[in-house]
Amino acid sequence: MFNFRRRFVQRAPCDKFHRWNPAPAGGYNNGMRILFIGDIVGRPGRQAVARHLPEIRERHKTDLIVANAENAAAGLGVTPVLIGELRSLGVQVFTLGNHVWRKNEMVAGISGMPDVVRPANFPEGTPGRGSLLHTLPDGRTVGIVNLMGRVFMDAIRCPFLQADAEIAALSRQTKVILVDIHAEATSEKVALGWYLDGRCSAVLGTHTHVQTADEWVMPHGTAYISDAGMCGPYHSVIGVDSRTVIEKFLTAMPRKFEVAGGPVIFSAVLVDADEITGRATAIRRFLLRDT
Ligand SMILES: [Fe+2]
Ligand SMILES: [Fe+2]
Repeated sequence: MFNFRRRFVQRAPCDKFHRWNPAPAGGYNNGMRILFIGDIVGRPGRQAVARHLPEIRERHKTDLIVANAENAAAGLGVTPVLIGELRSLGVQVFTLGNHVWRKNEMVAGISGMPDVVRPANFPEGTPGRGSLLHTLPDGRTVGIVNLMGRVFMDAIRCPFLQADAEIAALSRQTKVILVDIHAEATSEKVALGWYLDGRCSAVLGTHTHVQTADEWVMPHGTAYISDAGMCGPYHSVIGVDSRTVIEKFLTAMPRKFEVAGGPVIFSAVLVDADEITGRATAIRRFLLRDT
């Protein structure tokens, strides 16, 4: 008989580990700790990273910091200069998404940036790479894969089949693999989570800029969240000045979108993974708001 009380465990509040994924004091044996930062939006987002990253890195002893940077340049795209700025703040690997080509400099520059990935399921011959193997200073390795969804988005190659290929290639070199699924529909992201459960350490969603409260470690050891959220102004519509977005909805006329001002939010997740097995042992959600 279905045991309701066993299946539905009370959710832990934000910034706490799930009750069913308790973290032992002092960390894990064979543990690798990865901070994954949601879409960084414009200057306010970059400032949020600058403000919060030093303390999080020090307090939580992260091994690797990964960030989605597709909106870092005034909300649309990113430039090599801004990648450099975020690198200097401590971000070690960058994922991207549908706005990757908004700035022309990235078309020419992306191939020369070994720490940047764009969606792997873009057409064959697209500049840049869809996955990479990152080596930590102590020699440990982490695979990073960037994929883009197809529901309510551009028609590109299948992210599920592309995930098979990328994970098969990376699995020959490392156990710890993180997948950024940049997608609109939670259904597509959840389905990918189940499809990859047990084959990678984490499936982490980006693109909607709204952090979801569904983080957990799936039955076969893959940490999952539908969306890590955004770093940027939260008196806004997903980072954009709300007045212009409302005007566009009311009039159906084109409007120039600009990054909003005001207080900012920092959104991220912290994933602990066993580097011997590749299984995630915990996922923790951060949602830090300025007051
Ligand atoms: Fe975004
Ligand atoms: Fe996006």
